[in-house]
Amino acid sequence: MMRAATTIARRQARTLSAFAPQPLGPKSASLVARESKVGAENYAPLPVVLAKGDGCRVWDADGEEYLDFLSAYSAVNQGHCHPKIVQALSDQAGTLGLTSRAFYNDVLGEYCEFMTSLFGYERLLPMNSGVEGSETAVKLARRWAYDVKGVKGDAVVIMAENNFWGRSIAALSSSSDPTCKEGFGPYAPGFDLVPYEDLAKLEAALKKHGANVAAVMLEPIQGEAGVVVPPDDYLPGVKALCEKYNCLMVADEVQTGIGRTGKLLAVDHVNVRPDILVLGKALSGGAYPVSAVLCDSEIMLNVRPGEHGSTYGGNPVAARVAMAALNALIDEGMVENAQRMGDILDGELKRLVSKRKIALDTRGRGLLRALIIDDAQKPGELAYDVCLAMRDRGVLAKPTHGNIIRLAPPLVIDEAQLDAAVSSLDEALALWD
Ligand SMILES: Cc1ncc(COP(=O)(O)O)c(C=O)c1O
Repeated sequence: MMRAATTIARRQARTLSAFAPQPLGPKSASLVARESKVGAENYAPLPVVLAKGDGCRVWDADGEEYLDFLSAYSAVNQGHCHPKIVQALSDQAGTLGLTSRAFYNDVLGEYCEFMTSLFGYERLLPMNSGVEGSETAVKLARRWAYDVKGVKGDAVVIMAENNFWGRSIAALSSSSDPTCKEGFGPYAPGFDLVPYEDLAKLEAALKKHGANVAAVMLEPIQGEAGVVVPPDDYLPGVKALCEKYNCLMVADEVQTGIGRTGKLLAVDHVNVRPDILVLGKALSGGAYPVSAVLCDSEIMLNVRPGEHGSTYGGNPVAARVAMAALNALIDEGMVENAQRMGDILDGELKRLVSKRKIALDTRGRGLLRALIIDDAQKPGELAYDVCLAMRDRGVLAKPTHGNIIRLAPPLVIDEAQLDAAVSSLDEALALWD
């Protein structure tokens, strides 16, 4: 733990008079060149090539150490290579890896019991990625609408503008972001969008679609949109409207769930129980792709054998890894630590906002935080430059939506690491003051 702080302090001493990003080390540069020749270009990674991780710390291919303030978009809540998760992965992988769901396996039942009792639902449907989990939730909601509610026309799922739930055709069909949407049509019908945080517009949409609405599906905090935290009465208001108009409330907690916001689920902050809950990312602590959809039998059992599934979903490795990931999170007090460290980070970010001209505002919950940058000097690009300057001071983060830097370290971060990261961020911001 101390080493990270020492390394960062050493790098902070190399004060730059103006912004000039450090060149990549020789191994990193050759790895980037190698990938660039033959890899697809659907990502624009920050130039840093990671080769090792432990807790909050990662090392690049040339041996430089960093604090990870992205956590693989909140998948690595438990910290990199958590020993109990790695142990569960390797034990189960050496015993029985994959059976498909053509047969039963001896772990899935235990996993379903564990998850349903932890989250308070009757049943679980296992998938792999977050987008598959959210897609499953849409399918479950549609089937419930036809089979239980008695919808006769085409079922509608209402979502919020600026939502993000992945890259499938259904996800981009229901997206308002032209970058992920344009040029990929034709789009799947059956979705409508309303502004986030606006209960009146939601009610108007519920009235407009009348009896055809299957569900309202939302992120309790919009992560990719820039960590947009709705007012405390919003989610309870959504739930009440879903009850009033007889449709389901789906919470996509793929990014906000598993302790990230200082509670096990983000909806726990406002005591809302969604009808369908989608989990992913940190459900495996970054060791394996695991997602899950939880709901009660009245919704789950409308989908019958052969109507939905996944070769890898519910495999014994995924089930063991997820149980280990959740046990580690709970036993080691990571949820409480996220709340405690999140409060400290919030205070520090507010201090930077009052101190540094280019830091406009901050928001978030627990260890899901955002710093909004005044990028008038270089619109749409300055936040990226700030992230490069942070990288050169030993902290890794990435902008989301132009001028917003998301700050989401693993939930195992301690105060010394947090202080070191905030000093690096302060130094980086100072370059533009
Ligand atoms: C809220 C939310 N839902 C779903 C997804 C999709 O998850 P995955 O990339 O694992 O498919 C994401 C990914 O960032 C997300 O933030």
